[in-house]
Amino acid sequence: MSLLVTGGAGFIGSNFVLDWLAQSDEPIINLDKLTYAGNLDNLANLRGDSRHHFVRGDIGDRALVERLLAEHRPRAVLHFAAESHVDRSIHGPEDFIQTNVVGTFRLLEAVRGYWAALPEAEKTAFRFLHISTDEVYGTLGPNDPPFAETNRYEPNSPYSASKAASDHLVRAWHHTYGLPVLTTNCSNNYGPYHFPEKLIPLMIVNALAGQPLPVYGDGQQVRDWLYVRDHCSAIRRVLQAGQPGHTYNIGGWNEKPNLEIVRTICALLDELRPRADGRSYREQITHVPDRPGHDRRYAIDARKIERELGWKPAETFETGIRKTVQWYLDHPDWVQRVQSGAYRAWVQKQYGVAAA
Ligand code: NAD
Ligand code: DAU
Repeated sequence: MSLLVTGGAGFIGSNFVLDWLAQSDEPIINLDKLTYAGNLDNLANLRGDSRHHFVRGDIGDRALVERLLAEHRPRAVLHFAAESHVDRSIHGPEDFIQTNVVGTFRLLEAVRGYWAALPEAEKTAFRFLHISTDEVYGTLGPNDPPFAETNRYEPNSPYSASKAASDHLVRAWHHTYGLPVLTTNCSNNYGPYHFPEKLIPLMIVNALAGQPLPVYGDGQQVRDWLYVRDHCSAIRRVLQAGQPGHTYNIGGWNEKPNLEIVRTICALLDELRPRADGRSYREQITHVPDRPGHDRRYAIDARKIERELGWKPAETFETGIRKTVQWYLDHPDWVQRVQSGAYRAWVQKQYGVAAA
C-alpha cells in the first residue's frame, strides 16, 4: 500500500508528508514540479528514508502520472499541488489556469484510467482526495454566518476561480465516472515551512530584517487561521473515514483581522527577540494599497467534519502562532535559502521595495 501525494514539497504538502511518515510506514510517492514554492529543504529530514519516494514532475504530464500509478499502485491520491498565492494570480493568472485547472483535469484523467482497471476490492477502497480552499465561497459580510459546505461558489480572484474550477472537475469525475473523490475546503493555514510571501511568514521575516510590515488597506480583513498540523490531521481523518462524493470544510474557529495578526506577531517578537534599540516591532507596520478585489472576510463552519468524523483542531491561535514565530527564529538558514533571486524579484514587483 502507498499514497501518491502531489505538491508534497510545498508548505502544506511537506507538513503532511512529514506528519504521515512520523506516524505510519506506508510509503509516499511525492510528485512535485518544484516551482518557486516547492522546496526540498522542507523534506531534508527524510533524506535516505526509503518510505519517501520523490519525483520531480508536473501533474499535467499524463504519461508520467500514468507511469507512477502503474509502478507504485497507490491506494489513494492526495492532491495538494497548485499555484496558491492570490497576489501572484492577480499579476499573472495563466499559471493558475494551467496547473489548477488543466493540471487537475489531466491528473483526474490519469487516475480515472488507473482506478477503472483496479480489481473490485481495490477499486472500492481507492480515494482521490482533493485539497481545496474556503476562498471558493467568495466573501462574507461582518454578520454573515460562516461558510458551510452548502454555500454557493462565488470565487473572486483568479486563484479562487481556478480552485473552484478544479473542485467542479473533481465533483464531476465522481458523478459521471464514479471516481471515489473527497474534497476538503480549508481556511488559512500557518506554521513551519510557510513560504514568506504569505502574510504570517512575511511579517515575521520582514520584522526581523528591520523592513516595513506591509498591511493591505485598513487591515480589517478577516481570515480564519488554522495551524498546519491540524489541517494535516483533518486530511488524514477525511482519507480514513470521509464519504466518497462529500466535501468537508476545515477551519480553526479563529477569525482574526489582519492587523491583529500582525500586532500579535510583533508582540511575540518583542518578547522573544527584542529589537536592539528597545523599541517595538509595531513601529514597522505600514499601510500599503489594498489588494484588488480583496475578499473582506472568510469564516468556516467546521461542524460537519466534527459531527461526522469527530475531527477538531488541537491548537488554539495563541499556541499555534507562538510555535510558528519560534520556528522561524530557530530556522534562519531555511529562511535565507528560500529568499532566492526569484523571491527578491517578487518582493520588488509586489511591494516596490528591495527584499530583506
Ligand atoms: P504551496 O504554494 O506552498 O505549494 C504548492 C506545491 O505544489 C509546491 O511544492 C509546488 O512546487 C507544487 N506544484 C505547483 N504546480 C505544480 C504542478 N503543475 N505539478 C506538480 N507540482 C506542482 O501551496 P500550499 O499553501 O502548500 O497549498 C497546498 C494546497 O492547499 C493548494 O491546493 C492550496 O490551494 C490548498 N490550500 C492552501 C491553504 C493555505 O492557507 N496555504 C488553505 C487552504 C487550501
Ligand atoms: O483561505 C485560504 C487561502 O489562504 C488559501 O487558499 C491560499 O492558498 C492562501 O494563500 C491564503 O490566501 P490569503 O490571500 O488569505 O493569504 P495571504 O497570506 O496572501 O493573505 C492573508 C491576508 O493578509 C489577506 O487578507 C491579505 C493580507 N496581506 C497579505 C500580504 C501578503 C497583507 O495585508 N499584506 C501582505 O503583504
